[in-house]
Amino acid sequence: MTMCWILLFLTFQFLKAEETEMEFYAQAGGTVTLPRDTYRGAAEDSKDGIRKLYVNWYHGSEKTLLISRNPNDATQGKQKTRFSLLPNYSLNISPVEESDFGVIRCEQHVLTEAYAKRYRLRRVTVTKVHAVIIGDTLSLRCELEDGPFSGSARVTWVPPESSNCNLKKVHSKKVSVSDVPMCASGVWTCNVKYDGREANAKTTVYVIDLATAPSKPIYTFFNSTVSIPCSWSSDIPWTLLNESGLQGGEWTFTPLGSKNQQTLLNLIVGPQMKWDVTKGAHIAVQQRTVTNKNLSIIGLPVSDNIRGEYTCTLVFKSKTLSRKVKVHVLQVTVTPVSPVDEGKMVNLSCSLGPHTITPEVKWTCRSCSTHPLLRSNPHPANLSFPVRMEDNGEWRCDLLDNNEIMTSVKFSLIIEKLPVDIWLYVAISSGVVVFILLLVIIIIAIRRHKQMVMYRRRKTKFCCCKSPQQKGFYKT
Ligand SMILES: *[C@@H]1O[C@H](CO)[C@@H](O)[C@H](O)[C@H]1NC(C)=O
Ligand SMILES: *[C@@H]1O[C@H](CO)[C@@H](O)[C@H](O)[C@H]1NC(C)=O
Ligand SMILES: *[C@@H]1O[C@H](CO)[C@@H](O)[C@H](O)[C@H]1NC(C)=O
Repeated sequence: MTMCWILLFLTFQFLKAEETEMEFYAQAGGTVTLPRDTYRGAAEDSKDGIRKLYVNWYHGSEKTLLISRNPNDATQGKQKTRFSLLPNYSLNISPVEESDFGVIRCEQHVLTEAYAKRYRLRRVTVTKVHAVIIGDTLSLRCELEDGPFSGSARVTWVPPESSNCNLKKVHSKKVSVSDVPMCASGVWTCNVKYDGREANAKTTVYVIDLATAPSKPIYTFFNSTVSIPCSWSSDIPWTLLNESGLQGGEWTFTPLGSKNQQTLLNLIVGPQMKWDVTKGAHIAVQQRTVTNKNLSIIGLPVSDNIRGEYTCTLVFKSKTLSRKVKVHVLQVTVTPVSPVDEGKMVNLSCSLGPHTITPEVKWTCRSCSTHPLLRSNPHPANLSFPVRMEDNGEWRCDLLDNNEIMTSVKFSLIIEKLPVDIWLYVAISSGVVVFILLLVIIIIAIRRHKQMVMYRRRKTKFCCCKSPQQKGFYKT
């Protein structure tokens, strides 16, 4: 009978203890720690007491054991990955699942004594946010499941930690940010303070925008390829892009000195985004699948007709985002084309072509660092000079902007010396000709001389013959 009373008394005590229920808020996917009560105060937590302690954590009234510890310090439970015990045998749940909400009980035994405590886990939910396009309105809500503290809890929305952003904490269950800035991207936290405890529920917000275009034009050169940049300013999952109403996009091109805009590529949206070449595109752009956040035109071969302005446009149901990029092509022309004979005039020009003012250029010549034309500052864009042998070799033209090299073109000048042999032939043959001429002249002169002598002699003989005819001297 006494035994019976004791049992009844114990049960009564047990139930009475169970009546006290502790409220906890948590977010599905989040983490919560339910503190174990030390029963009988600090005495129980003496070394000896702890050694003999049994702790069992159950879910609900079904008495499903979540995790337990016994005096051999062995812990057991079916889902040890989500449930763990802290050193003081408090229960930690991470991540919290839907099925965890409701009643959780902790039973403790030391020898024949028992103690139980009930906890009630309630939900904090935050609106799942679809990505918002920059400049649109971001709205967030934090809801508390009804309970003793749902009315009195202090709820605060905490914006993502980010420097350079004037977003402030909002003491409300609702927050609305109009003209949403890029820095609103990130994890927003709903902080709930109740009965001396707190819970944090988090949600990730994506603000959709295109990365800022390069501040300067892209300078490139012939016989190369160029990529024209365009990208999302952050990595946004495709499903969120789709939910935000992305309908398509395009790359357009306005050639330099022209007003005719032409479409080069069209964005095909779908689980896989793709740039499709527009029929009749005048530029050698290529079809490509868009992976990650890179919407750039990649590997465009550089030629005369790629100079101009490129526009990357993304079309959403409610908005259009676009970025413009200018492309300039540096070109060096050498006339006449190499090889050039030594001493001939050569024209070099380094420019961005017609319709563009070429900023400063700088010529470099490997073997002729002291070319007289390169003494001026800045260097002329056009050089015209008779080539010398030391001008032979590699040349470079750098395009400068505030002393920064934007791009450069390398080329070779091949200068040919007139072959020595030819000069030799010319010299020898002209020598021979002169020699022969001299010889001929000498021979002719000698002949003339001889003839003169002969003639004189003959004339004398005749005279002798004739002399007898001379009257008065005739001898018989
Ligand atoms: C994209 O969103 C539309 C509604 O805006 C939906 O009908 C379609 O199924 C979605 N597509 C994909 C691939 O998610
Ligand atoms: C996009 O791809 C091109 C070529 O691979 C690369 O040069 C560029 O840096 C990429 N841009 C971004 C934002 O990843
Ligand atoms: C070089 O340029 C000058 C004018 O700058 C021009 O008169 C001449 O014909 C050019 N020479 C060649 C070979 O192009």
